[in-house]
Amino acid sequence: MGLLGDLGLNAFRDAALRATRLAEALFQGAFADVVAINDGRVWRCKPAGAFANDVSARRLALQSDKTLWVADATLEPSWRDHPAVTAENGLRFCASVPILLPDRTLVGALWVTDARPRPFDAALASALEELAAFVAGECDRLLGGETRMIRDLFDKAPGLMAVTRGSGHVIELANPALRRFVGDRDLIGREVAAALPQMVAQGFVALLDQVFETGKPYGAYAARMFLQRTPGGPLTEAYCDFVFQPIRDLEGAVTGVFFQGYDVTPAKLAADQLAASRRELQSALAAIQTVFDQSLDVICMVDDQGRIANVSPRAESLWGYAPEEMIGRQSIDFVHPDDRAATLAAAVEVHSGRSTTGLANRYIHKDGTPISMMWSAVWSQAHALTFCIGRDMREREVTEAKLRQAQKMESLGQLTGGVAHDFNNLLTVVMGSAEALSDALTDQPRLQPLAQLILEASENGAELIRSLLAFARRQSLSPKTMDSAGLFESLRPLLRRTIGSDIELDMRGDPELRWLADPVQLSSALLNLCINARDAMPSGGRICVGVHRDDAEPSLIAVSVEDTGQGMTPEMIQRVMEPFFTTKPTGKGSGLGLSMVYGFAAQSGGRLSIESEPGRGTKVTVHLPATSGPVVAAASPEEGPVESAQRRILLVEDDDRVRAQVVGQLLALGYRVISSANGVEAIERLVEQPNIDLLMTDIVMPGGINGRQLAIYARRLSPKLPVLFTSGYSNDAQVRAARLAERAVFLAKPYRRAALARALQEAFDA
Ligand SMILES: Nc1ncnc2c1ncn2[C@@H]1O[C@H](COP(=O)(O)OP(=O)(O)OP(=O)(O)O)[C@@H](O)[C@H]1O
Ligand SMILES: [Mg+2]
Repeated sequence: MGLLGDLGLNAFRDAALRATRLAEALFQGAFADVVAINDGRVWRCKPAGAFANDVSARRLALQSDKTLWVADATLEPSWRDHPAVTAENGLRFCASVPILLPDRTLVGALWVTDARPRPFDAALASALEELAAFVAGECDRLLGGETRMIRDLFDKAPGLMAVTRGSGHVIELANPALRRFVGDRDLIGREVAAALPQMVAQGFVALLDQVFETGKPYGAYAARMFLQRTPGGPLTEAYCDFVFQPIRDLEGAVTGVFFQGYDVTPAKLAADQLAASRRELQSALAAIQTVFDQSLDVICMVDDQGRIANVSPRAESLWGYAPEEMIGRQSIDFVHPDDRAATLAAAVEVHSGRSTTGLANRYIHKDGTPISMMWSAVWSQAHALTFCIGRDMREREVTEAKLRQAQKMESLGQLTGGVAHDFNNLLTVVMGSAEALSDALTDQPRLQPLAQLILEASENGAELIRSLLAFARRQSLSPKTMDSAGLFESLRPLLRRTIGSDIELDMRGDPELRWLADPVQLSSALLNLCINARDAMPSGGRICVGVHRDDAEPSLIAVSVEDTGQGMTPEMIQRVMEPFFTTKPTGKGSGLGLSMVYGFAAQSGGRLSIESEPGRGTKVTVHLPATSGPVVAAASPEEGPVESAQRRILLVEDDDRVRAQVVGQLLALGYRVISSANGVEAIERLVEQPNIDLLMTDIVMPGGINGRQLAIYARRLSPKLPVLFTSGYSNDAQVRAARLAERAVFLAKPYRRAALARALQEAFDA
């Protein structure tokens, strides 16, 4: 920085010129000039001097802060060899008066030269000094103004500015912007390291040292620094563009450092934030792209002309068209012709701002198959696009069909179960009466066979009811742990006889696999399945009966019957488990076989599955709960002798006809009977008559006290009292609970006299 600067120099020139004119008037015939030092260079007030080569001579003069009077240069040893002196008609006289500022800073010199020698003249010398003082005063005035102006610029500059002096970097100047930047601390007159200690560790003082030592400026962009904005406060991050410029003196030696910088923290942070949000945006976009690419639903964008603007890759696996084949085409072209009107109507709705979530239609696959779709769509005004998400509904349709099937079977089961139960009670009466009638008519050979006929018919009816109860999952089951070895061995001769010689029978067991099921019902189920298989192979074939662990549900064991017969269509498979569904001629099939197997499997805690295709055979599998318990041999019920005793039985039965009937049976068996129509009455009887030997009670009864509660009460009065429960329901919660009662026997309705006799005996023995 020049001491005078450009502005100062111009004003200074005026004062200097006036001084030279006055000096030349005083020294008639001489040449006067003012020389100055600016930016380390000699500056002269007049364009050319009177003597060539006097520049270096003047420089010599400028070194001195004393008045110089060289009366005759040719006589002065230090001057006479100077080229300006030795030149022809060269310099003889020279006077130089320093221009000193009040602080004794040397600014320049007033310089008078002449080709003639001039003897020292004290008056002239002091007049020259006056003139030099005038120029110095003028200069000081100007400089003061300039400094003020510079300070003003400094203070008002938005940038950060400071000047340090010396190798210790004492802060001489610091503008308000800088003071604010470093937290308004005390800076002037202090060393940087002391005023801003946190800058030492961050290497800024070392940088100052470097600039001071090398004299080379140093600049940086967005330099990161940590500043204490309040004394003792936390360090906060800041960024600064700055330059350290060396300040030199007249000789060019570095005396200080000028710092100028810009606080770019907000810009930098904003840029960082922008970059971060750009990255976030990019990753969000990438996520959306992933969803678009991977979605199992088709994502489709349709423009306001109905053209497909974009469609996700799922389109190809679902409809057979690559996205490129669809983009640009009318979306409606891909819709099944029958669904186009509804789809267009929905599209108009969506376009008017109502989003839709339930538009069902069919798309046509490239191969021509219709694909059921469910759409949700929303119109975006900003994009001028309808965004549509379409779901493949085929799987859902299959699931729904399965659900409908399950619901149908369930309600069929309930209906069947209800009817069968009521019929059961009727049959108990019919059978009991027919039996009594038949017994009473032994001496009437014409009538007795009629009674026998009623008995047989009602037994057939009871058999049918049993099948229906089996389907309705209401038969009474006695599950045992079983394995295929015993079961297959005892069944083989029976099945062999049944299926005939044209059909091969392959039974393969696995002794490792055990399951829990009622052996009698499972045997009958397998017999039923083998008969079905036989009927499906009129000209022979092969039946495989096998057992394996269920692949899908390892908790189940699959016992399967597979044939090589005619098979079934999917529509048939849907219906074959319904009761009375048969394709066999009247009299041949009742349509109850698979229904019973279905009910049995479900009631056993498993399920029934059918795999079949027309012409390719059928595989029917009963899935039963797996177990690891020991195998129990199935007990075969045999007709035992009917035992009678003069024991007292309390019979509790709400149905009057059944009660009458059973009383008859009990009497016929030789027991004494006390009967009650409900639980409350029965309790009264128990209290009145302590000598009752057995309680026989229906389980499900109206009137507040059911059979099980009655039994508990009776046992309280007489803890060892044998109990026989009866019921037409077997899967009712009350019935299941009653059957768990200790030392109690359960007899399912309807029953024959012999079964009743055995059950009573069992109850007495329990
Ligand atoms: N293995 C099979 N192969 C082909 N069709 C079968 C097979 N098993 C059953 N079906 C079909 O399912 C129908 C119903 O079978 P289901 O066993 O329930 O009754 P049914 O055999 O007709 O009569 P029921 O078994 O009561 O004597 C049969 O009529 C037959 O059409
Ligand atoms: Mg059958």
